[in-house]
Amino acid sequence: MSSSGEAQLLHTFKGIPFTTRSSPELLKSLDTFDAREDDVLLVSYPKSGTHWLAGVIKKLYNTQVTITSPIEFGDISKLEELNKLSSKRIIPTHLDYNMLPPNFKNKKCKMIYISRNPKDTAVSMFHYYRDNPNLPTIDTWTAFFDLFLKGNVVCGSWFDHFLSWEAHEDEKNILFLFYEDMKKDLPKVVKEITLFLSLNISDNDIQDICEKSSFSEMKNDTEKEHSDSSHTVCALTSNRKLVFRKGAVGDWKNHFTPKQNSRFEEIFNEKMKLSKM
Ligand code: A3P
Repeated sequence: MSSSGEAQLLHTFKGIPFTTRSSPELLKSLDTFDAREDDVLLVSYPKSGTHWLAGVIKKLYNTQVTITSPIEFGDISKLEELNKLSSKRIIPTHLDYNMLPPNFKNKKCKMIYISRNPKDTAVSMFHYYRDNPNLPTIDTWTAFFDLFLKGNVVCGSWFDHFLSWEAHEDEKNILFLFYEDMKKDLPKVVKEITLFLSLNISDNDIQDICEKSSFSEMKNDTEKEHSDSSHTVCALTSNRKLVFRKGAVGDWKNHFTPKQNSRFEEIFNEKMKLSKM
């Protein structure tokens, strides 16, 4: 995957590869995190539409809320920093369910899990690996495809991540969303989010928020620096400009060979045999 000079970009914690932007000390201390009942978690496997969801949520709240950087991003001082925030906290994370600080579970904090067709997620992640200096060099799509299927990429296996969260999908404090549904009918999904978060937003305002959350609007805002380009909700980079690539459904068809597609389907069917997906 990487030349030896890049080996230090990743480290493994509890069997999952993390970038060195998540310090081992921070990861070890996550279990001690003191959640608040009104915290909202935005959960995703990388490249599933986290920034899109965060952009929508930010516009839905007109009271003071802070969308923090991901809980697993930073060093040991991170938890203390989050403790000091006086406003309501919207906390992104790429952690799988098992690694989530138990206090979020005990306090039944609201959590929104966004997922995306893993084939498109793999393609999006491949480009992110190529563009992002915080990730190891990948020479070819073929090489990345193998790593992705083995779960040998940052944040580990897509399948394990999804299944760890899907096991909790019936819990009332967890809302499951799909990128493809947002592409198909964003106002419908946003309405669902407002009901889940108990926010009273008119249909006109929802429409307005959806227009401002289109791929082109969000990309433009980032390029014109209407938003802070160092504020990402992904622990893998501090450059928002790397996030808005294509924003499409089905880009996998431009990358997967028929043979790769059959292999993917075979592994998907095996790993997901107990999933409702
Ligand atoms: P692509 O690389 O396929 O373009 P994340 O925020 O979890 O890192 O996910 C990034 C992916 O979401 C990228 O996918 C990005 O283009 C896409 N994305 C971001 N904002 C979007 C929007 N407003 N509409 C559609 N897709 C969006």
